[in-house]
Amino acid sequence: MSKIRTAFFCSNCGYESPKWTGRCPSCGEWNTLAEELIEKPSKNNKSWNADDDTARKVKTVLLNEIAAGEEKRMVTPDPELNRVLGGGIVNGSLVLVAGEPGIGKSTLFLQNGLLLNETVTLYISGEESEQQVKMRADRLKMKNDRFFLLTETSTQTIFQEIKKLKPGLVIVDSIQTLHSSYIESSAGSVSQIRECASEFQRFAKETGTPVFLIGHITKEGSIAGPKILEHMVDTVLQFEGDQHYAYRILRTLKNRFGSTSELGIYEMTGAGMKPVSNPSEILITQKEEQLSGIAIAATLEGQRPLLIEVQALVTQSVYGTPQRTSSGFDNRRLQLLLAVLEKRGGFHFGMKDVFVNIAGGIKVEDPSIDLAMVSALLSSYEDGALPHQLVFAGEVGLSGEIRAVNRVEQRIAEAEKLGFEKMIISKYNQKGLGKQHFNIELITMGRVDELYKYLF
Ligand code: TYD
Ligand code: MG
Repeated sequence: MSKIRTAFFCSNCGYESPKWTGRCPSCGEWNTLAEELIEKPSKNNKSWNADDDTARKVKTVLLNEIAAGEEKRMVTPDPELNRVLGGGIVNGSLVLVAGEPGIGKSTLFLQNGLLLNETVTLYISGEESEQQVKMRADRLKMKNDRFFLLTETSTQTIFQEIKKLKPGLVIVDSIQTLHSSYIESSAGSVSQIRECASEFQRFAKETGTPVFLIGHITKEGSIAGPKILEHMVDTVLQFEGDQHYAYRILRTLKNRFGSTSELGIYEMTGAGMKPVSNPSEILITQKEEQLSGIAIAATLEGQRPLLIEVQALVTQSVYGTPQRTSSGFDNRRLQLLLAVLEKRGGFHFGMKDVFVNIAGGIKVEDPSIDLAMVSALLSSYEDGALPHQLVFAGEVGLSGEIRAVNRVEQRIAEAEKLGFEKMIISKYNQKGLGKQHFNIELITMGRVDELYKYLF
């Protein structure tokens, strides 16, 4: 028996320290060190292939001599999942799927496991009983005779089962519930999460089996696990969305096998997640009459153009400090745009409450939404509706200039496709477009005051 030992772990970055300090020396966060019971893993106490490990030969190779091979991908029936993974599931990859509780992670991956009827899938559930998973599968109305379920939390037992079953895909729901008996601390603690994930990492790399690890995060992203795991896994997918809306977004935060900032969009229905292939049509509410404070932005999320409705409400402030509330849009960015309008356009937002919202409950990071946001703010400020069938794409700079956006052709094509008639873009985008002809009228502008003159 080796001696039981404790150490302090930072719940933010996973830093290990022999003594407690108020501030983590590694990431600088305050009050994140917590004591955990550990036992230093001795040489051969790993659950995955303990004996093979020492036998494996290590040698240095010349990079040029390594045979180039396309990484093998398993293309799933779910187009959105393929997209965020960069074209399918790569063999031997370790993928972390992080999201708030209740967002639909279990549903999505149960569903995808059931859809893959060519592959033996093992779904490890540490959270739900067999009956619960069965009930959910019934709700999804899917059947698959190569889908196996294991309700177990000990990694030793899990790997025994895996050796017997030899699955082609492993889904772990969730990594926080697992525990390895070589570490003494309780499930969900930093050292456990790290140990369990590294066991799965070794399993994935040695057998070429893809593994999905599901992990919970809280609103602030503060629960330890996923943050630490981000370094260990090949791909990090974040599942997000507003629980009060049906739309869910699967975003790539890190991907060793493809581009990041890819986006998959799903709709939560009574029978599981439905991939949304034409998001722009859904995100724009089709109204007969034009209302003030609404503008359409042509944004780009990853490779994918997305037309989004931006809503703003500007009202007289009743309190001394005016309110600035935003949902789906960065509040500091909103303050910045208001300051630009105040300084460069002479609009007095200082006396007004401002509320902004991105329709559909989605979050937008593309700065090209600025122009639509400014237009929506001006429209509500003036209480006048914007012209019909108009769409915006442009970033707004601190001096009130409208800056060029990347891949403007793609945005124009999307707006064209949805039947918009006019599009306002930066005049600096004009050059790149050359003499191309579009079926949409392009209006180019250099400054926000020109925008105001054009709109009102
Ligand atoms: P779940 O996948 O359990 O979330 P997570 O694993 O991320 O914690 O999803 C829970 C929610 O999904 C729950 O509120 C019910 C809802 N749901 C549907 O709307 N439709 C469905 O077909 C299913 C199975 C769940
Ligand atoms: Mg779950």
